[in-house]
Amino acid sequence: MSLLVAGSIATDHLMSFPGRFADSLVVDQLDKLSVSFLVEDLEVRRGGCAANICFGLGNLGLRPVLVGAVGEDFAEYRSWLERHNVDCDSVHVSETRHTARFVCTNDSSMAQIASFYAGAMSESREIELKPIVDRVGEPDYVIIGPDDPQGMLRHTDECRQRGYRFLADPSQQLAFGDGDLIRPLIDGAEILFSNEYEASLITQKTGWSADEVLSRVGTWVVTLGPQGVRIDRAGEESILVAAVPEIEKVEPTGVGDAFRAGFLAALSWGLGHERAAQLGCLLAVYVVEQVGTQEYQIARGAFLARCAATYGDAAVADFEPHLKTIRP
Ligand SMILES: Nc1ncnc2c1ncn2[C@@H]1O[C@H](COP(=O)(O)OP(=O)(O)OP(=O)(O)O)[C@@H](O)[C@H]1O
Ligand SMILES: [Mg+2]
Repeated sequence: MSLLVAGSIATDHLMSFPGRFADSLVVDQLDKLSVSFLVEDLEVRRGGCAANICFGLGNLGLRPVLVGAVGEDFAEYRSWLERHNVDCDSVHVSETRHTARFVCTNDSSMAQIASFYAGAMSESREIELKPIVDRVGEPDYVIIGPDDPQGMLRHTDECRQRGYRFLADPSQQLAFGDGDLIRPLIDGAEILFSNEYEASLITQKTGWSADEVLSRVGTWVVTLGPQGVRIDRAGEESILVAAVPEIEKVEPTGVGDAFRAGFLAALSWGLGHERAAQLGCLLAVYVVEQVGTQEYQIARGAFLARCAATYGDAAVADFEPHLKTIRP
């Protein structure tokens, strides 16, 4: 059995300019705009939703299969992921385009100038899941995260056709896509993931009521930030799971992806939704406490102690036999 994680693979290049962009802009000359800012530092961070989710799963001892498209420049990122238990053998390498890249400069007033280059990501529409399944075995689950929209549609269609259980995680693409894109991405999913804001985008853009969405997916997992998570199923009481209290809030980017990794790990261990949400919250809080989405490290003892403190010993007993951390 295998876990396929499809979605974006990207790096973020973040720079900070010590002055103010506004001081360099001449308002009546904007048609000839040409400015260059001498920035102080450059930080390159590994990211992309599918890569973040795989990193989290690998950290918990699973061996997820990353499904996505990158450029020739992926070599270093690939070896990082492989060192964290991620199977990268089915990643599609473009012959002509670079790996997706977010390039962003902030100034001292928090103004931001950014660009996103999708690059090789647009080739994820060329990926077929079947040959991957032939290599790694029938999937327990295929998670379909934000990616090239045509690629997302193709993977979702293939899952429906071949009967692979799929989890829909359209997140960032909800803002961009219209109802015609979003409806087929969700319909028939075993689980739909979103945060609260995205939940309203889903109902607004699909034109489906929350009940109607629930009639089309098995389960809807709605993350509530520091409030934790709510799990909805048609005709059943919602399950609420509290977040893990953070020790220090540093930067939340990537929490959603880590949550999904924990959730998926527990599911593949055969645990129920409440336990899955708890493991998701546990992994997510590690991301809140670090800068960057793949910088956290899990030490088994501390992780389980934190689990006991928030969710009790019964939760620890359920996780302990499965958990294989990279560090002791
Ligand atoms: N401040 C926090 N302290 C502890 N846990 C948090 C905090 N913020 C988020 N989490 C955990 O992360 C999970 C996902 O958070 P959230 O709902 O903010 O996701 P998101 O909006 O998809 O985030 P993003 O897209 O930026 O990764 C929550 O269910 C919770 O468990
Ligand atoms: Mg999110």
